[in-house]
Amino acid sequence: MENIKDFNSYNKEYRKSIKSPEQFWQEKASHFLWRKKWDNVLSWDFNKPEVKWFEGGQLNITENCLDRHLEKRGNQTAIKWIANNPEEQNRCLSYSELYDEVCRFSNVLKSNGAKKGDRICLYMPMVPELAIAVLACARIGAIHSVVFAGFSAQSLSDRINDANCTILITADGAFRGDKITPLKDISDEAMDTSPTIQKCIVLKRTNSDINIKSGRDVWWNEEIEKVHKNCTAEVMDSEDPLFILYTSGSTGKPKGIVHSTAGYMIYTEFSFKNVFQYNEGDIYWCTADIGWITGHSYIVYGPLLAGATTIMFEGVPTYPDAGRFWKIVEENKVNIFYTAPTAIRSLEANGMEFVTPYDLSSLKVLGTVGEPINEDAWHWYDKEIGKGNCPIVDTWWQTETGGIMISNLSGVTPSKPSFATFPLPGIQACLVDENGIELEGNSVEGRLCVKFPWPSMARTIYGDHNRFRETYFSVFKNKYFTGDGCLRDENGMYRITGRVDDVLIVSGHNLGTAEIESAMDEHKNVCEAAIVAFPHPIKGNGVYAYVICHNSPDNKEELRKEINDLVSKIVGPIGKADKIQFVSSLPKTRSGKIMRRILRKIASGDTEDLGDTSTLLDPFVIEEIKCGAL
Ligand code: WTA
Repeated sequence: MENIKDFNSYNKEYRKSIKSPEQFWQEKASHFLWRKKWDNVLSWDFNKPEVKWFEGGQLNITENCLDRHLEKRGNQTAIKWIANNPEEQNRCLSYSELYDEVCRFSNVLKSNGAKKGDRICLYMPMVPELAIAVLACARIGAIHSVVFAGFSAQSLSDRINDANCTILITADGAFRGDKITPLKDISDEAMDTSPTIQKCIVLKRTNSDINIKSGRDVWWNEEIEKVHKNCTAEVMDSEDPLFILYTSGSTGKPKGIVHSTAGYMIYTEFSFKNVFQYNEGDIYWCTADIGWITGHSYIVYGPLLAGATTIMFEGVPTYPDAGRFWKIVEENKVNIFYTAPTAIRSLEANGMEFVTPYDLSSLKVLGTVGEPINEDAWHWYDKEIGKGNCPIVDTWWQTETGGIMISNLSGVTPSKPSFATFPLPGIQACLVDENGIELEGNSVEGRLCVKFPWPSMARTIYGDHNRFRETYFSVFKNKYFTGDGCLRDENGMYRITGRVDDVLIVSGHNLGTAEIESAMDEHKNVCEAAIVAFPHPIKGNGVYAYVICHNSPDNKEELRKEINDLVSKIVGPIGKADKIQFVSSLPKTRSGKIMRRILRKIASGDTEDLGDTSTLLDPFVIEEIKCGAL
């Protein structure tokens, strides 16, 4: 399948994808390995909601990531892994080595009792074994649920329990910068409250001292010795679930987003190749963690489906210093580089002395994802990293969308700083006003929706289809609602303006206000907390907490620390508040709803025009909050 090569062909393809979606996607599906061809390309009903792509088809996604490539590119590097510690040897796994490892580990899963349809939780460092375990689950038809290794024991346990996972795969520890995260200790604590786990498979990574509970815990390296090396892939239906990935919602309970097999496969490969204009032989690096959707779709599945060489980096951008990314680009002659605005801003703030020493001339394409990129950071990225020669693809999408939805195609369609620009072929994006009326034409601003199914869209929230409908399909009738605000400029280009619901995007990570608020409520002196975002120079958004105490604290700093320690323990360190302001009450409507809009304004330092406050129960609270603003 050829990539789209110019703006004209993009327009042609886009029109075709709207006029005959079934034919369009059928053509994108035909080069894959199918055990049985599909009977029906698409059936859908957004009211239920129910969406089925390629029904009747049978396949295994790992045969498409691995087996399919063996003849042509068995010796080509599939995954190039770079360790956190710059002195440690890198590892290269060719397609045939990766295939062998995946088959072996598939057999380990089976010998530990895993079957098709079981849920398996992965809580691991960014090492090749994480990708191997993901693929092994898919190979045997088990549903993987990867939990980011920065989450707390309680968050891990909640996620295991929500999906009733039977196996947990973890490591003794994870290296991150100069720290070690004790993954097995955290897993032990999680398993204390997660009775469904029957086996815990432990990878040796940091050689930390850990507890092994006999009968439950087994070592990866010992298990791998006991199994044979061939593993036939399980035959899956197109609509069989491939994975669950949790994302924050506007209530405290995270949502287990479920993706299915065939549609996800087709869309991640298509979007990977076209957005990044991937060419045979390109070295591709996405700096995300596999614990997030970006890592699922654009470190593991998309690139491997396309037969690319994908780099996997264990460490952080600033260790051992802020030149680490650029050193890796130079040493590996990276052609396509995909990262988050937060990383760009933080590296920019560290100064050019960390960029100048490195030869970045191999770069052809730059990408960003996860949050809006401000114009300053866009220009710095363009000038200092791309040297004015690399198109920047600003890719807008979500855990729920499975793949990139709105983005320029590198060098093919026009770009504009801080605009995600145009929807990909097949994506019928639209803007609506608060009443759900579609805003036609250009130069309009509203809420971003999608009015027609695309192959990689989420199919449900695990165990809660009702919540799936309520959150995404009943806010606006017959449309998928993204939760984002967006404008369309005079040329029809889209610019995402940020969340319009109770989800915060901090350093590109989704956090639910309710999640953090209920963690703070656990403190014995906290009566009520309200969380909002405020503009932060590096993280995009920071977390601002307004806290009401039972007893006025003697030592505010100490209480702030205690509250944040608790958030860190319950939600994980990414949820910690940057600012905590103690207040005696919160602005609420007569029906008791916190008016976050007002709190957001005050947190951002804009106390002049607070807009309509007429529905407030007690207008005087605002004066007090304004005076104490941090
Ligand atoms: C935000 C990450 C502006 C948006 C792939 C979305 C963006 C949420 C962009 C999803 C972008 C993602 N420009 N905002 N290019 N990409 N977002 O589920 O608010 O972790 O709804 O998926 O991130 O975050 P998630």
